Amino acid sequence: MPPPAMHCPRLVLGLGFCLLLGITLCSLWVYVENWLLVSYIPYYLPCPEIFNMKLQHEEEPSQPVAQSQYPQPKLLEQKPTELLTLTPWLAPVVSEGTFNAELLHHIYQPLNLTIGLTAFAVGNRYTRFVQHFLESAERFFMRGYRVHYYIFTHDPQAIPQVPLGPGRRLSVIPVPGPPQWEGASMHRMELISVHIAKRAHREVDFLFCLNVDTEFRNPWGPETLGDLVAAIHPGYFTIPRHQFPYERRPVSTAFVADGEGDFYYGGAVFGGRVARVYEFTRGCHMGILADKANGILAAGQEESHLNRRFLSHKPSKVLSPEYLWDDRQPQPPSLKLIRFSTLNKDSAWLHS
Ligand SMILES: *[C@@H]1O[C@H](CO)[C@@H](O)[C@H](O)[C@H]1NC(C)=O
Repeated sequence: MPPPAMHCPRLVLGLGFCLLLGITLCSLWVYVENWLLVSYIPYYLPCPEIFNMKLQHEEEPSQPVAQSQYPQPKLLEQKPTELLTLTPWLAPVVSEGTFNAELLHHIYQPLNLTIGLTAFAVGNRYTRFVQHFLESAERFFMRGYRVHYYIFTHDPQAIPQVPLGPGRRLSVIPVPGPPQWEGASMHRMELISVHIAKRAHREVDFLFCLNVDTEFRNPWGPETLGDLVAAIHPGYFTIPRHQFPYERRPVSTAFVADGEGDFYYGGAVFGGRVARVYEFTRGCHMGILADKANGILAAGQEESHLNRRFLSHKPSKVLSPEYLWDDRQPQPPSLKLIRFSTLNKDSAWLHS
């Protein structure tokens, strides 16, 4: 199906007007806010949803602007068994051997942090993954820290009772199920951003958003904490960026040109400080909405938008594929251990 080009000036004009109004209202509110001498978090702005769109889109023209040209960073830069440890924008690339787990524990433990974790179990295909996901997280995810799991599901009854360690809790968040549900990849960004604004910003310091058809296999600790965290996709870390499965149609807000790109990040793992994850998911959601208005579905759906956004809002920490592996691939010599992996959907234990 060929994508229709932007052919609706009325929508654009209307949007422009709303945005102007939105800015005016928001500036007014900022004025009142200063006058009140009380600080409010931006998502409490009493502006209707649509006005906030401008806040995200101001910095992101949907027409691609000339990007600075620079060479692709390569995870396997030096020897085939040694991973890159620092990106060209000075974000650490986390893998086994780059950090001292004991030292990090001594630094982070006294902070009494709460780490949130979202996962979506919508559709019966996905609810059956929850038990194993939570059990493996209890063994390996942020052991010794306060953890709050948020499982989004259409079927709260289907979420099993998994015994949780001290300081760890589970909230089940009901969401619409199929057929209204068009697939997690179209709604996840929206639901996460709304969930953060409504409650998670009060409950957690950091938030990771993970796929549920996965398991933890080795410790995942405070080395993963950062302002904005992305994980390198296990399928694309050895190939040139012009072969990355980015959205290549300029009419999409997720467009990435051939000469652009850092790493291809996986949609199955991202996170960071809760306020940064809010901005991130909201920005992705706005891009998805804009595409939808133009009748476009990005090539990799949500993952395309995630990758587009990480290109202009660089992650402050990058997780190596140790933190996002894929069951169907053999472990390469460059990865010393697999901490987290998507599961082969036909895994035998699922049928037991
Ligand atoms: C740690 O944080 C939780 C909630 O954020 C609080 O209830 C608890 O009292 C804190 N513990 C310490 C030792 O500060």
